[in-house]
Amino acid sequence: LASIEVDVSSLQPGMSLTAKWRGKPVFIRNRTEKEVEEAKAVQLADLKDPVARNANIAADAQATDLDRSAGEGKENWIVMIGSCTHLGCVPLGQAGDFGGWFCPCHGSHYDTAGRIRKGPAPMNLAVPNFAFTSDTVIKIG
Ligand code: FES
Repeated sequence: LASIEVDVSSLQPGMSLTAKWRGKPVFIRNRTEKEVEEAKAVQLADLKDPVARNANIAADAQATDLDRSAGEGKENWIVMIGSCTHLGCVPLGQAGDFGGWFCPCHGSHYDTAGRIRKGPAPMNLAVPNFAFTSDTVIKIG
């Protein structure tokens, strides 16, 4: 499977970019401290989908903010396939009732960790295989 490398050096906290990987948009966001704190404060019991959906860790890992993010020390970074888990529309960033992503097709609201919180989508936005190859480059795939 083809992988891509994305330079994220220009992303200050609060900035995102959308890369293209295997024909799909991939959202990369350098989250603000506030966004991370908001996501961390959410109880797992309040999540519609309690599974992390993160291809880099165990399939049954829980959807904590840490396990949705790029992990310890890089919790500000979130990398997700930009395809709504309802019917595949591309959600809009920094939108919706939870300050994360909002899918305008049928109204699915995702939080700042990309977890589904309201609307018809059944699952959290998928986190693809990725790794930082340096402080400023992320390899996806
Ligand atoms: Fe996103 Fe239906 S495709 S809510």
